[in-house]
Amino acid sequence: MPAGDLLTIPPVRGSTKPDVPESRSKQKEYQLVQVKNTWCRVECGQEIPTTWEEDQVVVSQAKIGEQVTESGVSWTVKAPIYFCYKVVETLNLLNPRNKTLLYGHGSDPQELEDNQKKTQKRFVVMDATVEQLYGSKVRKYFEAHNVIYKILALETTEENKSIDLVLHILEEVHKFGLDRRTEPIIAFGGGVCLDAVGLAASLYRRRTPYIRVPTTLLSYVDASVGAKNGVNFCNCKNKIGSYTPPIATFLDRSFIQTIPRRQISNGLGEILKMALMKHKGLFELLEKHGKYLLDTKFQSRNGHACRSDPALTTTRLAIQTMLEELAPNLWEDDLDRLVDYGHVISPELEMKVLPALLHGEAVNIDMAFMTYVSHEIGLITSEEKDRTVQCMRNLELPVWHNVCSLQLIKKALGERFKHSGGKLRLPLPTGLGTAEIFNDVSEETIKSAFAAWRDELGEFST
Ligand SMILES: NC(=O)c1ccc[n+]([C@@H]2O[C@H](COP(=O)([O-])OP(=O)(O)OC[C@H]3O[C@@H](n4cnc5c(N)ncnc54)[C@H](O)[C@@H]3O)[C@@H](O)[C@H]2O)c1
Repeated sequence: MPAGDLLTIPPVRGSTKPDVPESRSKQKEYQLVQVKNTWCRVECGQEIPTTWEEDQVVVSQAKIGEQVTESGVSWTVKAPIYFCYKVVETLNLLNPRNKTLLYGHGSDPQELEDNQKKTQKRFVVMDATVEQLYGSKVRKYFEAHNVIYKILALETTEENKSIDLVLHILEEVHKFGLDRRTEPIIAFGGGVCLDAVGLAASLYRRRTPYIRVPTTLLSYVDASVGAKNGVNFCNCKNKIGSYTPPIATFLDRSFIQTIPRRQISNGLGEILKMALMKHKGLFELLEKHGKYLLDTKFQSRNGHACRSDPALTTTRLAIQTMLEELAPNLWEDDLDRLVDYGHVISPELEMKVLPALLHGEAVNIDMAFMTYVSHEIGLITSEEKDRTVQCMRNLELPVWHNVCSLQLIKKALGERFKHSGGKLRLPLPTGLGTAEIFNDVSEETIKSAFAAWRDELGEFST
């Protein structure tokens, strides 16, 4: 049977008289079936004609709903978008014998084999500092594999995390030219670089695959594992961006050894977030090994990690807990998100004092305040509050900032309310490593929590 035979187009008689009166409006749903390159619809519940050769039939997960009313026909497209991306730990990513950087994103062995026979081409964006430290290794790596490449080194700072940066990357990508399907863009750097490149890749030819190689602790455990990218806009943090995951993230902790100590604390802020929200064991690891992790910059002894190595266990747990929360909600349709902890007041604060606070520092100040909110409501005990604050201090994270006034907090909460469907949706700890979302935190509670926070941790507290 020819595919077209199944098309059931409702009659259009060219008159103002309704084809189907409102009272008799019809609603149907169709599945989409591909027969010899042509998609056709088959009403749901009806059998696919047996005359179609089975091996030539593809059934899509997409569906088309059709409603015929007196004013016309309306179609509803339901098309699940499927994303698959890898987050891969690897050692010595830049050793030419390690093929992860070039081929680690693939999962089809045949495609991999075919790919290895071709000359590879890669466009690489690197944070300027990272390029100074690791650029020559990257060049040697590509040269060892006869790769045609270009490295674009850029100052990627919070202050220039803007659409101009993205447009600059796009112009260079365009000049270089690449095969959108087989030549992923590679980004090496901290969260700023990864976010800007991710946005550029999502725009170039509507979506070009890209790979993230995080080189700071914060980007290793946080900015590189989810789907989000973005840049600042109109002095608002990450106001433009998209949900476009990379095809792969390659994690090599050795990059972290060259970041300054303050940047280690910065990343520890995001690890602590996951610990406070959902993993007491991770919190205890941070309590116990925080100083050691700061001193050793997350490097394992002799470069080899054993299972009990705190650098390995803390980063793994942070990523695992993060992926558990992100994967079912990649597009953030569900606004009740535990991963928003520390991100309610901090965007306002971070942008206001830019560049005085690093991202993880602003996040920690937000979390310190929310610890007092939780305590004020009676969700956590005084001992749990004190342990949390002590852990933050051991990780050398700020627990207070003068600019974080009650006025700023109220403004940020107002914004939160406005952008979260008229609900506060505050993630708050209910113990060490457990949390829930709250909508009913009163202004009185915020005020008294602020007073307690200021008295205990503020500038003039003893
Ligand atoms: N997309 C997401 O889901 C997500 C999540 C969390 C944070 N972020 C974003 O990430 C950004 C913060 O990322 P960040 O903390 O990595 O900051 P960053 O990208 O600004 O990097 C921090 C500094 O470290 C330097 N650097 C990077 N790697 C280095 C290395 N190996 N050795 C020496 N110096 C190195 C950089 O030059 C920079 O000066 C923020 O803009 C935040 O919005 C995004």
